[in-house]
Amino acid sequence: MTTRCDLSPVWAELQAHYAASGRGFDIRTAYKADAGRFGALSFEAPEVFADLSKNRVDEPTLTLLLKLARDCGLEARRDALLRGDPVNTTEGRAVLHMALRAPAGSDVPFNLEVQASLDAMLAFAEGVRRGERGEITDVVHIGIGGSDLGPAMVVQALQAFGRRDLRLHFVSNVDGHDLAPVLAGLDARHTLFVIASKTFTTQETLANAQAAKAWFLAAGGTDIARHFVATSSNTAAAAAFGIATTFGFWDWVGGRYSLWSVIGLPIAIAVGADNFRELLAGAHAMDRHFAGTPPERNLPVLLGLVDIWYRNFHGFTSRSVAPYHQGLRRLPAYLQQLEMESNGKGVDLDGNALSMGTSPVVWGEAGTNGQHAYFQMLHQGTDVIPVEFIAVKHPNHGVSGELAEKLADQHRKLLANCLAQSQALMQGKTAAEALTEKAPTASATLDREVLARHRSFPGNRPSTTLVLDALTPRSLGALIALYEHRVFVTGALWGINSFDQWGVELGKALCNQLLPRLDNGDTTGLDGSTAGLLARLLAA
Ligand code: F6P
Repeated sequence: MTTRCDLSPVWAELQAHYAASGRGFDIRTAYKADAGRFGALSFEAPEVFADLSKNRVDEPTLTLLLKLARDCGLEARRDALLRGDPVNTTEGRAVLHMALRAPAGSDVPFNLEVQASLDAMLAFAEGVRRGERGEITDVVHIGIGGSDLGPAMVVQALQAFGRRDLRLHFVSNVDGHDLAPVLAGLDARHTLFVIASKTFTTQETLANAQAAKAWFLAAGGTDIARHFVATSSNTAAAAAFGIATTFGFWDWVGGRYSLWSVIGLPIAIAVGADNFRELLAGAHAMDRHFAGTPPERNLPVLLGLVDIWYRNFHGFTSRSVAPYHQGLRRLPAYLQQLEMESNGKGVDLDGNALSMGTSPVVWGEAGTNGQHAYFQMLHQGTDVIPVEFIAVKHPNHGVSGELAEKLADQHRKLLANCLAQSQALMQGKTAAEALTEKAPTASATLDREVLARHRSFPGNRPSTTLVLDALTPRSLGALIALYEHRVFVTGALWGINSFDQWGVELGKALCNQLLPRLDNGDTTGLDGSTAGLLARLLAA
């Protein structure tokens, strides 16, 4: 068994396959040659349908990629993860976020502790919803990174399941421009603060929590114990901060995998205990799919393998995510942490420098907004950027009457746009085709052939489309778990540790060293650029 995919003998087979037919692969030709391509390359997983047919892959490619996965022992690595082996080797920790969504009585590690923690957190959330902490109209959640992105994304996505009289606010940035406008509209007597930090040492979160506490007291708030709670694995630090109620969790829950733990408290407050359990159930269904489906039909495995094909053979360095649902507009930001913090690594598990690429840049925006911004580049730019479309069949606008009809019509427009974009990316338009068209805004004096070249599209640009029937707690849970497992698959094949994040440390340490210089203006020993910038920022 080879643990790193570029050291596997199958790697060379894939390189040869790429040179022979992968490089020149044309999705349009493949479709012409095989009318059954959609059926062969679309897959069902719990709550998620995936069309992979508009990708530069065919059966021989997938067969080789699956052979690579087998040779790298992917299934054994997955089983080690699920068993609770310390797969986060640099921190000596297990990685068990799947245990957080396994039902009571499951044969998974820590099931009793997890259920007790979940019950306590959900009981608290329901209590807040029922007014047991006084009339709470606003919840301010203070956390950053994994202690913010997941809960913030999910609460936004599940807005239709929330209550209008209970508003959730998320503050993450140390920049006071984040906190100040949130506090400006609030009444201390009706506000609950949730301070979320796994370590309870994070500069941004502690600074915002201190500021919120000061504001609360200045605004006439008296009962800190009632209006401030924490979610943290460092309960001692939370207590030292003056917080009476802390929901604790374990070191085997990674920050960017923590929304399923007590870090999900704001989600539970927003949508209630039953919906939170649905979110967990959706994720658990995807866990079972990942754990038990043969690689040939295992969606996280297949998506991960296509990612490897694009990153390491085609050399594509980026992937764009386009959710065609406004509720999912924070999904790209969430995925950036999930994928880039997990797999943005340069050495393998043994510390050897890698010569193959790892995490692509993941970025995006909700459709249709992205179409009017950067899709120009996706269609005609010099880089090929695979796009991931997410379409939701049934909307949930929560309105009735004439407005409901109008919005239903808008939903058809939304779906038509989503389909049209992936179609256009694949189809393209030749200069000859462009020559036959009359574009109303085109110059009348420019040479027609030149104009046609400007107006042609290369096509053969790959995309994947994921389809959900509706955006519900269950489908969202499944979708997020799908991405988590896909990131595991690519990380496992690259032979890296997807569960540490040492790359964030240096900047934090330097920030701590620079902070006093912002007071005293001392630039001694600094590099020329930092000294110059500091002086400029401090100049009268
Ligand atoms: O800076 C990166 C990071 O450590 C993330 O991995 C984590 O999600 C985030 O900071 C917040 O950390 P904490 O929950 O400990 O405040």
